[in-house]
Amino acid sequence: MQPPLLGKTALVTGASRGIGAAIARRLAADGADLVLHYGHDTAAAEGVAADVCALGRRASLLQADLADAAQSESLYGQAAALSGGAPAILVNNAGIGRFAALAELPVAEIQTVLAVNVTAPILICRAAAGAMPAGGRIINLGSVITDRPVAGRATYAASKGALHAFTSVLAQELGPRGISVNAVAPGVTATDRFKRGDASRVPEILARTALGRIGTPEEIAALVAWLCRDEAGWITGEIIRADGGLRGL
Ligand SMILES: NC(=O)c1ccc[n+]([C@@H]2O[C@H](COP(=O)([O-])OP(=O)(O)OC[C@H]3O[C@@H](n4cnc5c(N)ncnc54)[C@H](OP(=O)(O)O)[C@@H]3O)[C@@H](O)[C@H]2O)c1
Repeated sequence: MQPPLLGKTALVTGASRGIGAAIARRLAADGADLVLHYGHDTAAAEGVAADVCALGRRASLLQADLADAAQSESLYGQAAALSGGAPAILVNNAGIGRFAALAELPVAEIQTVLAVNVTAPILICRAAAGAMPAGGRIINLGSVITDRPVAGRATYAASKGALHAFTSVLAQELGPRGISVNAVAPGVTATDRFKRGDASRVPEILARTALGRIGTPEEIAALVAWLCRDEAGWITGEIIRADGGLRGL
């Protein structure tokens, strides 16, 4: 049987590690060619590109600092130039968290979180909005933080709440062209960020998760990849949680 995403190109932001790297590998396994965006870790991005190529798909690399609006604005166009056509799949995955009590979070860090988590996906979608082919797919990585509040994450939650709202409204705008726009909102997922975090929280997280474990990047990637398939074409404007049944933390 033909792979479901054969002939499509996907731009994945933040594809050098974590959930973004897993999404890139999964989309390649499903037949897509990839434009892999990354921030600073060229070696890691090259490793993911090698994995994509080993799956028989094409991989191009694009470095850009998504805290910089001009670099965000030009990313989709650069991906189109590299891959010979406007990517039919856009996954806005890159995101950062700066976790601290609000009074202790420097203003510059607040601005960076909002720039990378909100402004960048909006600007990348703006560039894609006029160019993406009919039947395209936009998937934004949100978070369950918006309805599972945790102290010290107010700015991060505000950024993801804004991204969720943006997702549902953009779906209305792009629907007439057959482009779906959805957000996947992970719960706690075992990426480097989680491994670097506060281990003392783990027992409580496990106790509050119906499935009693932490999620994997591959589980998030599987949902993103399914949303990219033709058979998911009726789903748009949704914020889909993937959190193992997490209750309030
Ligand atoms: N992990 C979780 O538990 C969890 C839970 C809920 C939601 N999420 C969301 O899922 C997404 C992926 O999370 P993750 O845990 O996989 O993150 P991660 O391991 O920290 O990876 C983040 C990715 O974003 C890129 N990035 C960060 N800042 C950037 C910047 N200024 N410019 C360009 N690229 C930048 C990084 O590139 P370089 O490393 O090359 O700089 C990296 O590829 C994020 O949107 C996150 O908010 C994660």
